[in-house]
Amino acid sequence: MSSDPPIRIYLSPPDVGPHERELLLDAFDSNWIAPLGPQVDAFEAELAAKVGAGHAVALSSGTAALHLALLLAGVGPGDRVLCSTLTFVASANPIVYLGAEPVFVDAAARDWNLDVDLVEQELAAAAARGERYAALVAVDLYGRCCDYERLEPLCRDFGVALIEDAAEALGSTCRGRAAGTFGDMGVFSFNGNKILTTSGGGMLVTDDPDVAARARHLASQAREPAPHYEHADIGFNYRMSNLLAAVGRAQLAHLEDKVERRRQIADRYRERLGDLPGVRFAPVGVRGTSNSWLTCLSIDPEVAGSDRETVRRHLRSLGIEARPVWKPMHLQPVFATARSVGGAVAARLFAQGLCLPSGSSLTDAEQDEICHEFTVAIGV
Ligand SMILES: Cc1ncc(COP(=O)(O)O)c(C=O)c1O
Repeated sequence: MSSDPPIRIYLSPPDVGPHERELLLDAFDSNWIAPLGPQVDAFEAELAAKVGAGHAVALSSGTAALHLALLLAGVGPGDRVLCSTLTFVASANPIVYLGAEPVFVDAAARDWNLDVDLVEQELAAAAARGERYAALVAVDLYGRCCDYERLEPLCRDFGVALIEDAAEALGSTCRGRAAGTFGDMGVFSFNGNKILTTSGGGMLVTDDPDVAARARHLASQAREPAPHYEHADIGFNYRMSNLLAAVGRAQLAHLEDKVERRRQIADRYRERLGDLPGVRFAPVGVRGTSNSWLTCLSIDPEVAGSDRETVRRHLRSLGIEARPVWKPMHLQPVFATARSVGGAVAARLFAQGLCLPSGSSLTDAEQDEICHEFTVAIGV
């Protein structure tokens, strides 16, 4: 049994205040306590405007949004779908829900995101074999965008649907364009640990009005417009509650402040820890701005004289939550038989990578303590 004390400083806790409370109670008092309503409509319109997308569809989770995105991209049984290996399992599970086969692609050391050279090689090799991929799920890891300047034309040329998993990247940009707006569809998550939370929720973003209408239809049990209950498709119960949309609207109104605070935290970590031998921060600003959802670094044990687990366990023994970088999908038991294109870079980032507490409500004093204890653990 662990003798660790309760967690005092969480990795990325919810940051809510009186505005969220006010809108939530207004929604409650309005009696729109349902998976539809004026708050849902307004949240969709405000999020679409914020990221500059034609349409946004509020859903019960980011996972639900990815499931519908893949379904609407035409992915079905027997199809092959490329997916970043260095991610949370929710990027890949919906591929399997649809009876399709995920093929995982390694990360690039230069930005920790999808290695576009490997994507290109794999698409070309598949085409030479007379095969094709139905879709690519590109994950904007920890708030940093993939290289869409290359991925968009590549997917177009090979006839592959591009789904941007921007679950972690609301508020980030790539060459001036908002995360979530690349490819055919984008997906956000409002899970409790994300930059904005609705406790649980997600959004599907698209410029195509037909795709948005179809997503809303499928997410509402595919109910046809009739006075009785009429169904021509298999649907899902995936819509967002009006109460939660009210929380989301208040959160969205403060997005810039939250991003700004997370960036300050990221900068401060870099200033304090960036010169330690063997410590390397995940690259930022490679081709845009990051929302700094989580500040992550890698610790090379050969150079640092300590390792990721020693640091993580030391922080945890003091009630500070830090987490290993995602365990890549190609190393997960559930995907043991899945195919993988490369994987060594993601495996190394998992072995050496650590995410530090980065919530927008983290205080300077808490961060000072984390930095101090980090240096103690690493033996400086
Ligand atoms: C990269 C990524 N994709 C998808 C999801 C799934 O989102 P949700 O938890 O809202 O289903 C998450 C987070 O939870 C995530 O980090």
